[in-house]
Amino acid sequence: MKSLRISAALGLLFRPSATPSVTALGLRAQTQTRWAHKSASSGVPLVPSPIPFVPDVETFLTLIGRGLKQHASKFPTWESLFTLSSDQLRELGIEPARTRRYLLRWRENFRYGKFGPGGDFKYVENGTADLRVLEVEKSPLVKDRRVVNVPPGKKVDELSPGEMVRPKGYHVERVKAIVGPYALPKGIQFAQVKVTEGMWEDKRGHKVDGGERRREEVRFKKRVAERKALREAQGYY
Ligand SMILES: *[C@@H]1O[C@H](CO)[C@@H](O)[C@H](O)[C@H]1NC(C)=O
Repeated sequence: MKSLRISAALGLLFRPSATPSVTALGLRAQTQTRWAHKSASSGVPLVPSPIPFVPDVETFLTLIGRGLKQHASKFPTWESLFTLSSDQLRELGIEPARTRRYLLRWRENFRYGKFGPGGDFKYVENGTADLRVLEVEKSPLVKDRRVVNVPPGKKVDELSPGEMVRPKGYHVERVKAIVGPYALPKGIQFAQVKVTEGMWEDKRGHKVDGGERRREEVRFKKRVAERKALREAQGYY
């Protein structure tokens, strides 16, 4: 139906009485203007800037997981990652279609500044960010402890408050421990977050539930087996 209408419209455009080429060009120019206007008014760039935690194509593909990292060398530039069409991605051998859609979805998230953990880090070197604890005295007895991202090798007392960044999703537990996504303890009030494959991967809900259900089942069977072994040992069965 739609294609019929389109060919009818094209037929109109290319009617001998009209000046076909001019009309067609005019239409294309109009469409392009509208497009450019749209993206300008929404303020979302087609090609967003890299961020400290995601400086290049390989890191982007590593973080989003699903084996996309293996395709990193097929993208000549950061721009190409954000501008290739779904068809072009298929030509590059990014299969199946579900994986291409997944990549396109993450591309869109990134454009809109919707990052995964670590996306708000300011200091990252060689794929590693240092997190430390900033203690703020609220009263002589109460201290507020916040996780801050600091330049590599720096301690909190070597920095001014303006230089420290408070990343979302990280907090302090039991005075010393930094807790949050992929935080590896490296010392007292010190942790690192490293770029890790699949760190930003969308885990499908039903799979996680299935995993939990299965775990419950395994534990239940184990408890039954333990009780049976106990009864047998006591000479009941
Ligand atoms: C990052 O890597 C470079 C080159 O391998 C090295 O010189 C530098 O010390 C590293 N930085 C950190 C913080 O480990």
